[in-house]
Amino acid sequence: MIVIRSPQTKEDFKDYYALRYQVLRQPWGQHQGSEKDDYEPISRHFMAVDDGSGELLGVVKLLEKEPGVAWFSHLAVAPRHQRTGIGRLLVEHVEEVARQEGFRTIGAYSRLNSTEYFKRFGYQITGLPSPYFGAVQVVWMEKSLD
Ligand SMILES: CC(C)(COP(=O)(O)OP(=O)(O)OC[C@H]1O[C@@H](n2cnc3c(N)ncnc32)[C@H](O)[C@@H]1OP(=O)(O)O)[C@@H](O)C(=O)NCCC(=O)NCCS
Repeated sequence: MIVIRSPQTKEDFKDYYALRYQVLRQPWGQHQGSEKDDYEPISRHFMAVDDGSGELLGVVKLLEKEPGVAWFSHLAVAPRHQRTGIGRLLVEHVEEVARQEGFRTIGAYSRLNSTEYFKRFGYQITGLPSPYFGAVQVVWMEKSLD
């Protein structure tokens, strides 16, 4: 069974950031450490884990962007588990957490090649693309939680 929980131990966090790096930074030749941003201490972190094998399947984090607006970022699914519904589970999870915490809107900066993915969940583009890490362009997408 797949469970979504927050990383707790030093080992959990090591695996959590390693998966981020592997999926989101290494392919662009970015240095280790680039998988973290300044907002880690004020973010809620989530990991999808196979509770049978203990394997880490995917990660995402959630924080407040501005009053009423939740922001999830660093969504990454382990390569061999992509397109098996893990991303969907993580997105639905952060939406539910944000809803319970009283946020009215949730959004993410999507790479231009992932906008179709987020549109499936009802997200709409509300901004102009901007460069990210000099490697891709991202655009803010959001949806109402009401
Ligand atoms: C993009 C990503 C998070 C999607 O998670 P996932 O677990 O692989 O996707 P899911 O299994 O939840 O996909 C749900 C649906 O979206 C589709 N889908 C997956 N990736 C897609 C994409 N990039 N564009 C359009 N549709 C996509 C799937 O085919 C699936 O369709 P179905 O429900 O009809 O079968 C994951 O593939 C990933 O980590 N990719 C690399 C990093 C990345 O691009 N992160 C996004 C940062 S903006």
